[in-house]
Amino acid sequence: MKTKLLLAQNPADLMIAVEILKNGGIVALATETVYGLAAHAYNTEAIERVFKAKNRPNNNPLIVHVRNIDCAYELFDWSNMDENTKGRFFKLAQHFWPGPLSLVARSKDLVPFAARGGLSSVAVRIPKAQSCLSILEMTDFPLVMPSANISTRPSPTCAEHVLKTLDNRIDAVLDAGTCLLGIESSVVRIDGEQACLLRFGSISAQEISSVLGENLLIPAPADKPQAPGQAYLHYAPQVSQLRVVDSVELEALWLDFNSIIGRKKDLDKLYQKLGPRNQECLSLSLGDEPKSFAAKLYQALYRCEERPCAPVLILRPPKEPEWAAVIDRIRRASGT
Ligand code: TXA
Ligand code: MG
Repeated sequence: MKTKLLLAQNPADLMIAVEILKNGGIVALATETVYGLAAHAYNTEAIERVFKAKNRPNNNPLIVHVRNIDCAYELFDWSNMDENTKGRFFKLAQHFWPGPLSLVARSKDLVPFAARGGLSSVAVRIPKAQSCLSILEMTDFPLVMPSANISTRPSPTCAEHVLKTLDNRIDAVLDAGTCLLGIESSVVRIDGEQACLLRFGSISAQEISSVLGENLLIPAPADKPQAPGQAYLHYAPQVSQLRVVDSVELEALWLDFNSIIGRKKDLDKLYQKLGPRNQECLSLSLGDEPKSFAAKLYQALYRCEERPCAPVLILRPPKEPEWAAVIDRIRRASGT
């Protein structure tokens, strides 16, 4: 199939995207986190097409995206849930939605098992990006939206990166420019004894637990994966090697033909100390803060693919709680 390039600022193109979705097709849409691969969440065949296009194991569940809190509430089965869970839902939904937080709890039967990867629970979020919300307003059904990349590759933060792995595998991409946050939503399970962070993401664990007014369970990286998707290699660019290094290791490799990624202030320090690198080398200085670093991380990984034979070295960011999501993605991308 030929993938159509649609433009979000063009109202006629929004209508085309909606028509494709109504007919069970797949359209990549920008959210504030990353581009997502949207399909009708109540159409099992459309959902199966998403898994096929992404080459995604079908036991890895999708997040269902809705346009308002009532629509989200409708997807959960509240019959056996305690008041605590309901309280957590409203606190988090009212504070963070629309925004980069996905909430997981027991699902109603109306969400197909295919979308849930066979689980009894479902993940739901309201995205904030305007073009995506407009599409959700124009359809009268929710949309599943996994990140719009072939499984294992970095998530796309612009239309060009969607096409890098999915051209001719999906019906269309609605280009809405670059995603603001650049890293996926945080995923939180709200039922059970204690709320539990299933995936680090754009909102830090500290922010979530302070809104909840209770501790958030954060599994250690070595624990059994909490979300099925955490079990797989992820975010890996197609390069000969990707290593996370400290500044001593990077100094030793400074003149080699590596691609390097790091915080601006850390790389600036090394430039001052060691001088320029070879002209053929790629050096990508990302922001100094976790949010600005996250916003550019996947872009940087795709950029490194332009020199597939050069190993990629990522200068380790500080091991501090606000860097947890960035460190998580780097760890997975490097398979360590
Ligand atoms: O920011 C985002 O969340 C993006 C945008 C497009 O919304 N979407 C996204 O989807 O990152 P995906 O499919 O790449 O990642 C979804 C994650 C996976 O790790 C999956 O295992 C987990 O959410 N997940 C989904 N449903 C779940 C459930 N019922 N229980 C536990 N984990 C779930
Ligand atoms: Mg993904």
